[in-house]
Amino acid sequence: MEWDELVEAARLATAHSYSPYSHYPVGAAAWTTDGRLVTGCNVENASYGLTLCAECGLVSNLAATGGGRLIRFTCVDQAGRIITPCGRCRQLLWEHGGPTLQVLSPAGVVSMDQLLPQAWGFEELNPSA
Ligand code: THU
Repeated sequence: MEWDELVEAARLATAHSYSPYSHYPVGAAAWTTDGRLVTGCNVENASYGLTLCAECGLVSNLAATGGGRLIRFTCVDQAGRIITPCGRCRQLLWEHGGPTLQVLSPAGVVSMDQLLPQAWGFEELNPSA
């Protein structure tokens, strides 16, 4: 579960991007607690606001291949440069990785609770769970 493998998987995922509007392919990749590699790419829409970020595809892939938790994540542009997840996608990642998810960001490896401090999540809706 090396970071360079994750970066390469994310870079390869950009090849599947559908981004005729932004011309900005994004690839995302993550390891799961049970050792699966899940990936995603951005899929845009003529109604721009309906665009699916790469993280959306990754989370869908996570669920479709057995669910579980994310432990390491990164996303990259077409050149393989590490990018940082957008605000909405930080919330998606929080849901499936929680505060300890390790994220390889442009600033190095950070934990999810650094990227999304004071996050809203499952516990807020289920205080006694
Ligand atoms: N994008 C992602 O896929 N993930 C992010 O975290 C940032 C933005 C995509 C959405 C859109 O297709 C393109 O990048 C330009 O915003």
